[in-house]
Amino acid sequence: VRVEVKKQDPFSIVSNEMSTLAKNIARIVGSGHPTLNRVSSYYFEADGKKIRPLIVLLLSRAVSCIPESKRNRIEIDRYDVLDQKEYEGTPKSMLFAGKSALESISPLNILHGINPSLILNPLTRANLPLPDFEDSAVNNEILPKQRRLAEVVEMIHTASLLHDDVIDFSDSRRGRPSGNVAFTNKMAILAGDFLLGRASVELGRLRNSEVVELMSTSIANLVEGEFMQLKNTVLQPDITMVEGNPTPIPEATGKVPTEISEYSVPGAIVDGKRIITHEENVNAAFDYYLHKTYLKTAALISKSSRSTAILAGCQEEVINNCYRFGRNLGLCFQIVDDMLDYTTTAEQLGKPAGADLQLGLATAPILYAWKNDPSLGPLIARNFSKPGDVETAKTAVIKNDGVEKTRVLASKYRDQALEALRTLPESGARSVLEFVTNSVLTRTK
Ligand code: FPP
Ligand code: MG
Ligand code: MG
Repeated sequence: VRVEVKKQDPFSIVSNEMSTLAKNIARIVGSGHPTLNRVSSYYFEADGKKIRPLIVLLLSRAVSCIPESKRNRIEIDRYDVLDQKEYEGTPKSMLFAGKSALESISPLNILHGINPSLILNPLTRANLPLPDFEDSAVNNEILPKQRRLAEVVEMIHTASLLHDDVIDFSDSRRGRPSGNVAFTNKMAILAGDFLLGRASVELGRLRNSEVVELMSTSIANLVEGEFMQLKNTVLQPDITMVEGNPTPIPEATGKVPTEISEYSVPGAIVDGKRIITHEENVNAAFDYYLHKTYLKTAALISKSSRSTAILAGCQEEVINNCYRFGRNLGLCFQIVDDMLDYTTTAEQLGKPAGADLQLGLATAPILYAWKNDPSLGPLIARNFSKPGDVETAKTAVIKNDGVEKTRVLASKYRDQALEALRTLPESGARSVLEFVTNSVLTRTK
């Protein structure tokens, strides 16, 4: 007997939510000014990867499969239930059934063993398409608050891209002229600010101060990460690193040698202070790079993953595992991004390639090359600003297998993300998340 295996799109378990997401964002970013509307919605019109909201939605489903007994931080979801556009078309009777069900929640019926999640979101439940995967738990729901969180995350991310393209002098994004080119720097910056403002409104409406705190921190983290990248000269490779002061500011130490060779002897004593070894120096540079990477990319993904579990009322351990998953996935994602900058074409990426060296940025591939070849230190220190530096760096990356080593680094974070993910109960949503996690490493754009 041949068993017919039905081929299914793994993403179909959140495809409805993903299209609702686009519609809701379009509604949220409406303003009274037609040009502002055009700029604010510009990046949403092109096809982005939408990986951040995808993770929030899939993770929402995955944590809903955790048995109720292990979800003791019950979040009563009263959010906007009755006036959400996404429920248009829902029969009135059902709406009222939903309302009375919400009102019937009391500590008493929770005590009497009535599964609160069964009555928390009757509307969501009624509207949900059946999942394509057999889920292990009866619950398979995404809370309205989690959907809104997915929208907030995508809006914060898009705001940061509008700003990022100004900072990076980019001319393209998602296969189109970037916002700064299409509308001017000023409008791109203001539209980014506007998106942040509207995202904050939506965030506040979640009425969950812990989530507001987390997501606001992630906005601050984006800026901190971007600043670390802007000022990466704080770390002067091969020069002013002295013991006990891992990231000295050259201006503060008053000592910025111009010739690396002066101080390049490992362990040399200069002015009574030991100059750190090349290995220590490389390690410090990697620490700096990874911390920057966490702030600029992984913070938003990890904190939204954490928030997803908080909104589901999960226990601390589950919340921490979701955070760990998001953190490692985010690090993997950005390290792969930095790798693609070396390996792919602008056409494939839909945005400039080979941009990092041009911008003076030392990411993992060149740091690995420098580890093998200390003579690259001065180039990194001067942000590849001398004619020929960029070419020398590219050649060094190839010669020292910088790209391959970067891929190994990314795969280490992918493995840690998978490990954290596998602490959640088995479910269709978890399988799709595993698939997404693996795709982050193998992606080409
Ligand atoms: C893309 O990185 C950019 C980021 C991940 C974050 C950018 C953050 C800011 C500009 C801070 C301002 C933040 C807000 C919230 C307005 P990339 O330049 O390496 O990638 P790319 O190749 O996609 O441009
Ligand atoms: Mg950038
Ligand atoms: Mg950029």
